[in-house]
Amino acid sequence: MSLHIILYFLQVLSALSHTEHNVHTMALSSVVALGANIICNKIPGLAPRQRAICQSRPDAIIVIGEGAQLGINECQYQFRYGRWNCSALGEKTVFGQELRVGSREAAFTYAITAAGAAHAVTAACSQGNLSHCGCDREKQGYYNQEEGWKWGGCSADIKYGIAFSRWFVDAREIKKNARRLMNLHNNEVGRKVLEERMKLECKCHGVSGSCTTKTCWTTLPKFREIGYILKDKYNKAVHVEVVRASRLRQPTFLKVKKSQGYRKPSESDLVYIDRSPNYCEEDAATGSVGTQGRLCNRTSPHTDGCDLMCCGRGYNTHQYTKVWQCNCKFQWCCFVKCNTCSERTEVFTCK
Ligand SMILES: *[C@@H]1O[C@H](CO)[C@@H](O)[C@H](O)[C@H]1NC(C)=O
Ligand SMILES: *[C@@H]1O[C@H](CO)[C@@H](O)[C@H](O)[C@H]1NC(C)=O
Ligand SMILES: *[C@@H]1O[C@H](CO)[C@@H](O)[C@H](O)[C@H]1NC(C)=O
Repeated sequence: MSLHIILYFLQVLSALSHTEHNVHTMALSSVVALGANIICNKIPGLAPRQRAICQSRPDAIIVIGEGAQLGINECQYQFRYGRWNCSALGEKTVFGQELRVGSREAAFTYAITAAGAAHAVTAACSQGNLSHCGCDREKQGYYNQEEGWKWGGCSADIKYGIAFSRWFVDAREIKKNARRLMNLHNNEVGRKVLEERMKLECKCHGVSGSCTTKTCWTTLPKFREIGYILKDKYNKAVHVEVVRASRLRQPTFLKVKKSQGYRKPSESDLVYIDRSPNYCEEDAATGSVGTQGRLCNRTSPHTDGCDLMCCGRGYNTHQYTKVWQCNCKFQWCCFVKCNTCSERTEVFTCK
């Protein structure tokens, strides 16, 4: 393994094990001595099939870890003003802590991490960082005779990224229960949003900017865009229930709750089976970390306001003086002269 792969492993591992410093130190010597085999056994929360994939494609697992991080970061950004801020008490996985309740928050995290994995794998393929993929080979040569452009450059191979995400991310659904159906549905929603947002970029070639020939290629969208779309779908998520159809009465498919007959949820909607807890208090049963200690805004009427954020428990006020350099002027010659400015500031945190 190359050094940068080892470093990525350490990053992934340390991100996963803040509390287990020994895992981190163990990781370095293990990678050096034993390689992927041991590392794949050390990553917490991998399903057996995921461990096998990890061992056969250690380079891809690092990229998956980055993709999961991309998803988690976006989740934290989208929910930075919410009582639930994308944290959970639960099992540690490569995708962060898992929510136990099949809530719309769980729906969002599954969709965004499945999309993150597909995004990261596709990007790594385009940059030649993965051994089994590259640019999209279907998108080469002439495409549209009438419009007169042809495929050129490196088109991102989104199909590969999506297939890899399906292969690896979906492999964690080992229990044959309602959550499995919910999670697989939401994973697919996340990947579909990404696929639909692929962009076409073009470049003109010719004398002084004329467009005698034009080449185009597909590129990945900014992940932020995916975050906003999924946040919107989170707000409109559909409550579903499981239908046990087979002879063994195993969960077979999902239907929209309280719908007439068996109306299946749309492939583009996020779905949830449990109502959300209010996320006010720490609760191991629901995976809620509570809002104690969260920053809040005393004047905001929204969920970041202290009333809503602190669930009526009240808040603590912390006063401090902010000091910084200001009114800097350049003096001839040659130094910069500044004043010191200060300001009394307050922050509020939930009790
Ligand atoms: C590809 O590898 C290079 C060099 O190690 C790294 O800087 C870059 O971030 C990688 N790109 C992706 C998308 O993983
Ligand atoms: C989310 O809230 C918890 C509980 O207050 C806090 O410990 C954690 O640092 C917060 N996470 C982020 C990303 O803000
Ligand atoms: C607090 O909320 C108000 C009203 O929404 C807003 O104008 C203000 O910028 C917020 N303050 C901070 C520190 O975010």
